[in-house]
Amino acid sequence: ARPDPAAMRDLAVDLGVRAGRLIREGRAEGIRDVQTKTSDVDVVTAMDKACESFLIEELRVARPGDGVYGEEHGERASETGVRWIIDPIDGTVNYLYGIPDYAVSIACEIDGAVVAGAVVRPHSRAVYHAYAGGGAYRDNVPLHGSTPASLAASLVATGFGYLAARREQQGALVAKVLGSVRDIRRIGSAALDICYAAEGRLDAYYEWGLHAWDFAAATLIAAEAGLTVRSPAHEAGLLVVGAPAVADDLARLLHAHIDPSWGVPD
Ligand code: IPD
Repeated sequence: ARPDPAAMRDLAVDLGVRAGRLIREGRAEGIRDVQTKTSDVDVVTAMDKACESFLIEELRVARPGDGVYGEEHGERASETGVRWIIDPIDGTVNYLYGIPDYAVSIACEIDGAVVAGAVVRPHSRAVYHAYAGGGAYRDNVPLHGSTPASLAASLVATGFGYLAARREQQGALVAKVLGSVRDIRRIGSAALDICYAAEGRLDAYYEWGLHAWDFAAATLIAAEAGLTVRSPAHEAGLLVVGAPAVADDLARLLHAHIDPSWGVPD
């Protein structure tokens, strides 16, 4: 039988809360074993790996046969049509430096569509969650997003990847956006940026070239909070999330400055 999205949301919340406790308590004991991945600035800690292993094992026990796609360990194929997309620590650089904006992100996809998700911010113990058709919540508070009058009056967040060539493109884009918005934030966790937009602490968020594990859960939460979501799959590598009144203006502005020679980020 097709799993119930509300039950999948409950499982995502339960695992996210337990993983969040693991990384919060782990941080108090000190950061161990910092290594780099795709570039010298792309860091991974022992806790990123330990937390992802914890989630993979818990999912194997709770939902044998489901697929798992994670930031650190790659893909385990699904035998059930259900796939979990997980990021054990989104905002690893913040985690490393003791900046509290880091999160655990867990999304549940059925037959290719995300139907449930949880984003846990361990530092404050806030839990953002949603399932398809069920609305979005922070703990038990329903989320609705903001209602900015225009893009010019919008607080917009973005993020940057870890490769120098990609960052040059992202820098060129943010230079264009800066003159057209209230201000820019670079908080350092895409999952939290998107959840903050869902609760109206930001009016919009975009990023050029972002991986699914960073946004799968949060974009469902944003969509369920009534925000417009333009996903990288449909926007040639660009993710735009925002209040309906400004998201399309932001997407248009960005597309006008994306150089086709950049190609589509994978
Ligand atoms: C990163 C963060 C960051 C975003 C980067 C991501 P990580 O995720 O979400 O805000 O700008 O593109 O890679 O590496 O901390 O899991």
